[in-house]
Amino acid sequence: MKISRSLLGALTLFAWTQLLVVSATTGKSEKKKPNIVFIFTDDQDYRMNSLDYMPNVQKYLVQEGTTYKNHYATIAVCCPSRVGLLRGQYAHNTNITDVLPPFGGYERFNKLKLGEDYLPIWLQKAGYNTNYIGKLMNEYDVFNYNKPTPRGFDYQEQLVDPYTYIYNTAVFSVNGQTPVYYKNAYQTDIIHAKTRAALDRVQKVDKPFFLWVAPMAPHGQFEIFSNGTITTRSPVPAARHANYFKDVKIPRAPHFNPDKQVKTASYWKDLEKLNPTLIEEFDEAYRNRLRSLQAVDELVETLFEELEKLGELDNTYVVYSADNGYHLGQHRAYPGKCTNMEEDINVPFIVRGPGVPKGEESHTVSSHHDLASTFMALAQGDQFVPSWVDGGVIPLTKDLENHPRPVSKESFAVEFWSMENYAENYFPTNARSGPNTYKTVRVISQDYNYMYAVWCTGERELYNLKTDPYELNNLYDDDAHIQLTNRLDALLVVLKQCKAESCRNPWKILHPEDVSVKTLKDALQFDDHYTQFKRVEYKECLNYLTSQNESPQIGNHFNLNGTFNSDHTRLHTEKSDQFVMKSFIKRAEEQKQTIVMPSEYHELFKLVPVASGPVGHEIPDQNFEKFAMPVPTELLETEVKWADYNFYSYGN
Ligand SMILES: *[C@@H]1O[C@H](CO)[C@@H](O)[C@H](O)[C@H]1NC(C)=O
Ligand SMILES: *[C@@H]1O[C@H](CO)[C@@H](O)[C@H](O)[C@H]1NC(C)=O
Ligand SMILES: *[C@@H]1O[C@H](CO)[C@@H](O)[C@H](O)[C@H]1NC(C)=O
Repeated sequence: MKISRSLLGALTLFAWTQLLVVSATTGKSEKKKPNIVFIFTDDQDYRMNSLDYMPNVQKYLVQEGTTYKNHYATIAVCCPSRVGLLRGQYAHNTNITDVLPPFGGYERFNKLKLGEDYLPIWLQKAGYNTNYIGKLMNEYDVFNYNKPTPRGFDYQEQLVDPYTYIYNTAVFSVNGQTPVYYKNAYQTDIIHAKTRAALDRVQKVDKPFFLWVAPMAPHGQFEIFSNGTITTRSPVPAARHANYFKDVKIPRAPHFNPDKQVKTASYWKDLEKLNPTLIEEFDEAYRNRLRSLQAVDELVETLFEELEKLGELDNTYVVYSADNGYHLGQHRAYPGKCTNMEEDINVPFIVRGPGVPKGEESHTVSSHHDLASTFMALAQGDQFVPSWVDGGVIPLTKDLENHPRPVSKESFAVEFWSMENYAENYFPTNARSGPNTYKTVRVISQDYNYMYAVWCTGERELYNLKTDPYELNNLYDDDAHIQLTNRLDALLVVLKQCKAESCRNPWKILHPEDVSVKTLKDALQFDDHYTQFKRVEYKECLNYLTSQNESPQIGNHFNLNGTFNSDHTRLHTEKSDQFVMKSFIKRAEEQKQTIVMPSEYHELFKLVPVASGPVGHEIPDQNFEKFAMPVPTELLETEVKWADYNFYSYGN
């Protein structure tokens, strides 16, 4: 095509005018890459409707963005979930499988060098100014806050243990400096004020920004009694929200405290129907969770107001999610997370930004390990994502729909390793215990929706969530489903140890010769093929990952003359009963020897004063940093392994 000189001239003039307009409105030169803000709460459920009680999340995110209904945490507990997200990997690849040492926590994260190659560093390479405010991960504490300072952040204000889970105490290390505390302040409000300040700060830097805001709400509150024992209670709301929602109750869905217990693997079969007193306690815990989220909701409003004021709103993606979900009474469970129920794994995920449909719901299936790749795609930094990353790019916009590294089409695994089920506030007395080591595969499409699980006790679960959304009918023992189960089991063989591409397209491992097989539906034609697989099995119940314990391995997964049938698949095996019994005995022994923190450590803990009365009457103004006080050096110089005093036994 021939372009006339005058047209070319007009085009150039047009381009110049556009550039001038851009410069005039942003006050910056050619800032093209979008900003990304990630709001990330702790233990917030999607399935118990917590988002419905957050008017600003509704107004600014749900109505103006897309809600992804099928977004999942693939391990439903803090540290493993967060590390997986930061690295774009399943927990079986990070090997951070617990919240506490020896299999989890900040020190193991560093020992395994996971913090040397992860999302914030990739974002910096893509030209981003990276910022973090709030809770990073378990065991980042007053002793190791600069050993090392978390890498990859241009500016970071991290909550430090042992104060992280105390709403009326706000203790932060800023950029690895000596921790400071804010007296008589409500922790979420300090995070709110810091978010406002961060937006002012990043505006002055001539780079797109990434801002991760991670409030601890609605996590349970830790209490350290004067006799040195530690426990948790439900969240403490800001004073101004303490009386909200007086009549609200946990949704009474069909699986809430059922008359008949149908979820029966491991400890589940021994859970008794909850009595009305307990239900009242759980309802109050539910209300306190919603109350504690109100301060987060106010933060969301400020965030959008500030982005608008700064003229950045149209060039910013705002993403809202939580590390894992939470349950209260479903299938008779005591308050907590860590299970394979939808309440614990299906998490809030809302995105607003350029090109993201407004006011829509999406059924795209995605997981936390997809977020790193997705953020990097938004940041136009695909080349900085290492090839070992498991996750793909969630098609948030039309542009991302054809990304060469798509998310797994319809399936993902959920993993856990623990010798105990976790019950917040009720350990060690009320809740029945047993091993909580399992693998689950979820397959979700328009046509079907299945959950299949294998427990270390040998028990198995199969639910058809299309017809049975509350998982009330375990179909595993039903021979009619053998063809389905053998596919799901084979899929789990792959997903339990997948790496990189095999996590995004597990069927390629199962059908190496036939690239047309991409879904469960496609795989249903190959009956003979699937009778040859060995089934997923544990040698024993362990609270950590070793590949030898979890067979079969890919490459060794054919059972040459094997037949997959239900002969040896009875749900309740003697073996499983023995496992549960052993846990009961172990717990009974532990109960006798309650771990008490030595009084000198208890005194140490008290060096940061707890507010004398309710706090959080109002959000601090711009001058809040004036009230930051250094944490006493005595506390910083005494190495206390808080984990040794049951500090993390209550889950985080
Ligand atoms: C410690 O104090 C708390 C609160 O008063 C009490 O519930 C708990 O039983 C005490 N524990 C021990 C071991 O004395
Ligand atoms: C994970 O860590 C455990 C405990 O440190 C170790 O025994 C195991 O070999 C590791 N597993 C893998 C797959 O790296
Ligand atoms: C395979 O078949 C052979 C011969 O029928 C039999 O001896 C062997 O036990 C079978 N192996 C398995 C794993 O079933």
